[in-house]
Amino acid sequence: MCAIVTCEGEYYVTFKFRNKADAKTIPITPVEKAVFAAWLKNEPKEIKNWLKSSGFSAKPGEISLIPDASGTLTRVIFGVKNHDGLWDYAGLPKALPIGSFSIDARMAGEKATNMAIGWALGCYQFAKYKSAKPRKVPTLVWPENAEKGRVKAMYDAVTLVRDLINTPADDMGPAELAAATRRLGKKFKADVRVITGNNLLKQNYPTIHAVGRASDDPPRLIDLRWGKDHHPKVSIVGKGVCFDTGGLDLKPAAGMLRMKKDMGGAAHALALASLIMELRLPVRLRVLVPAVENNVSGNAYRPSDVIKTRKGITVEVGNTDAEGRLVMCDAIAAADFEKPDLIIDFATLTGAARVALGTDLPAMFTNTDELAVELETAGADVDDAVWRLPLWNPYRGLLKSEVADINNVSEGGFGGAITAALYLQEFVSDGTPWAHFDIMAWNTRARPGRPIGGEAQSLRAVFEMLERRYT
Ligand code: BES
Ligand code: ZN
Ligand code: ZN
Repeated sequence: MCAIVTCEGEYYVTFKFRNKADAKTIPITPVEKAVFAAWLKNEPKEIKNWLKSSGFSAKPGEISLIPDASGTLTRVIFGVKNHDGLWDYAGLPKALPIGSFSIDARMAGEKATNMAIGWALGCYQFAKYKSAKPRKVPTLVWPENAEKGRVKAMYDAVTLVRDLINTPADDMGPAELAAATRRLGKKFKADVRVITGNNLLKQNYPTIHAVGRASDDPPRLIDLRWGKDHHPKVSIVGKGVCFDTGGLDLKPAAGMLRMKKDMGGAAHALALASLIMELRLPVRLRVLVPAVENNVSGNAYRPSDVIKTRKGITVEVGNTDAEGRLVMCDAIAAADFEKPDLIIDFATLTGAARVALGTDLPAMFTNTDELAVELETAGADVDDAVWRLPLWNPYRGLLKSEVADINNVSEGGFGGAITAALYLQEFVSDGTPWAHFDIMAWNTRARPGRPIGGEAQSLRAVFEMLERRYT
């Protein structure tokens, strides 16, 4: 899907880097607004005049293209916020003409790497369904000190999330999600197994089967393993609802429109696995993705049905649109059974999390305070913030059922992200560190480097935490 091809020292598919500048390479000078006036004093008269007369003030993202006497582009002046934000440079590839560019500033390793990641992601286009060829992108000379392998790994992971989510459900059903996992497994020599259809019942995954059985593309549990047995066991679970109609509790049109993104959690799980494998983190990795389509048919599961989950807990289906927690609970129970050192799950689980925190800020829940601090710190450090919400136990009673051990929804729906997380917690053993991310996985508006569509949220935060822990 988004393999990087090497050609004469240049990486490209949708982004291009080169190792060395040549005579035609145009320098980009980043300037912070706060020091702009002082900086300008030392510049030649023509530059001073041009920037002043064209009204350039070094606002973050502002670009001035500067010609020489012959009218040829010779220099770019670029307003930045603080030189090191990941997205500071992400608007450039789209704004600049095709050509070779270099950054005219000294940057330490981490900043150079971030800058290059932002640039690369700024080149991303989802052009699969456009008749026109993808737009060409300018080339950047690798900033000195940038960690090329990390830039490539981050680009691969983030664009994997975006591509998987952006692909419409007709081309990204449970079968295609399994195929994407197999491709990833092949790339890194990981073991991939898939349990499909009625075999889910035979192997005791009743909730995954119940939610997915109404679709023509049968439900699956995708299971990827990688790494050495003696390394710490990290298990990642991702909600793979390839399309969420709501089931018999059908969503209205506006609510259903974006539901191809309901496998965003699975996309995050696979992308995190990709980062772990590409950057060879010393962990024993397991990824579990329940892949289903929550659809409507004569054999669809119904409101008021009771399902005996893998763990043995019986659940009353209060609402077929709360399908995410149902498919997740059997996958989490399977992950938990092995007593891993850590369980991380990602899911586009509730609209309530978006009401609480908006579209960009992922809700994080965890049963371990130290893990919360590690995740919050890592997220803040890599420009990928997450916000902890409480596993507020007094709300556990809202999930009561008259007929079963638990209901999949609460009465009233208040605190919906919390009650969903409390539901999942029932399937995690006491003492197993677990973090759950309730994410949007979608940019509702375009920003530099972040077009409207599927987006990785909390992915870099979690990877940073894992790296700090395990290396
Ligand atoms: N996939 C949705 C949640 C969702 C909706 C996430 C919109 C992001 C944006 C999930 O399966 C769902 O429908 N949840 C219901 C739960 C309710 C029935 C208790 C919701 O949030 O309304
Ligand atoms: Zn739903
Ligand atoms: Zn859903």
